[in-house]
Amino acid sequence: MTTQSIGQIFDFTGKVAVVTGGAMGIGEAIVLRLAEAGASVMIADIDAEAARQTAARISAGSSKVKAIRADVSSPADAIKVARATVKAFGSLDIIVNNAGVYPSSPAVETSEEMWNRILSINLSGVFFYSQAAAREMIKSKRGGKIINLAAVAAQHPMMVDQAHYSASKGGVVSLTKALALELAPHNIFVNAVAPGAIMTPGGIAQAAALEAKGESLEEHTMRFLARLPLGRVGEPDDVAKVVLFLASAASDYITGTVVTVDGGYLLS
Ligand SMILES: NC(=O)c1ccc[n+]([C@@H]2O[C@H](COP(=O)([O-])OP(=O)(O)OC[C@H]3O[C@@H](n4cnc5c(N)ncnc54)[C@H](O)[C@@H]3O)[C@@H](O)[C@H]2O)c1
Repeated sequence: MTTQSIGQIFDFTGKVAVVTGGAMGIGEAIVLRLAEAGASVMIADIDAEAARQTAARISAGSSKVKAIRADVSSPADAIKVARATVKAFGSLDIIVNNAGVYPSSPAVETSEEMWNRILSINLSGVFFYSQAAAREMIKSKRGGKIINLAAVAAQHPMMVDQAHYSASKGGVVSLTKALALELAPHNIFVNAVAPGAIMTPGGIAQAAALEAKGESLEEHTMRFLARLPLGRVGEPDDVAKVVLFLASAASDYITGTVVTVDGGYLLS
C-alpha cells in the first residue's frame, strides 16, 4: 500500500498537463487549479489571444503556464499540441479534453455542416487529443490521466434545440469507458466529468441567444434554479476541483467513470 500524505497526493510538482479550451470558462478554472497544485500547463485553445492572456495571468512570469493556438477539431493540431507540450515541459502526464461548443439549433433545421462541426469539436476532438496524448504517455512509461468534459445532457437533455450536443456528449461518455479499458494496461486512467448548468462565457452567450427567442435571462435562470436542489447555478471552480481530484493520485483506483457535477439537477 502507498503511504502518500494528503499533501503529496495533491502535489502536482513535476506533472505536465494540457487543457483544451483553457482560455476561459471551466477550462480556465481547471488551468488555475492545476497550476496552483504545482503542475506545468499548456493551454490549447482556438482563441490564441485569450489563451496567451490567461497563461500570462496565471503563470505571472514563471512560464509554468504556456499557450498554443490549436483547433480541437483538427487531428493534426492534436499531434502538434502533444509534441509542443513535451518539448516545452519534458512530458505529458495529464490531458483535460475540455473544449466544447453548444450552439442552439433545432433538429429540423440543423444542417449537415453544423452536425459535423459539433461532432468534430465535441467528440472527434476528444478522441484525437486523447490518442496523441496517450502515445506520449505510453512512450514515457509514466502512465497518465485523461479527463473528458461530458455533460448531464448526455443522459438527460437539459435544453431543447441541442440534439447534436446531447449526441456528442453521449459519445464522450462511451469513448471515456472504451479508452479506459484499452489504456488501463499502460497505467493511463480515463474518466469524465458531467457538469450541469455552470456560469461561463459560453453559458452566458447561450442564455443571451435564448433571450432573442423570447425567454429573458432572468426567466432562464429561474427555470434552472427551480431544478437545482443546491439552490445555485455552478461556478467553473465547482468543476475544476473535481477535475483536480481525477487528475490526482486521490483517484488512483478510478477509471472509466463519469462524475456528475450538477448541483443535484438530475435528481428532479
Ligand atoms: N457551461 C456549462 O453549463 C456546461 C455544462 C455542461 C458541460 N459543459 C462543457 O464544459 C466544457 C467547457 O464549457 P464552457 O462553458 O467553459 O465553454 P466556454 O464557451 O465558456 O469556453 C470554451 C473554450 O473553448 C475554446 N474553444 C472553442 N472551440 C474550440 C476549438 N475548436 N478548439 C480549441 N478550443 C476551442 C474557446 O475559445 C473557449 O476558450 C465544454 O466541453 C462544455 O460542453 C459546460
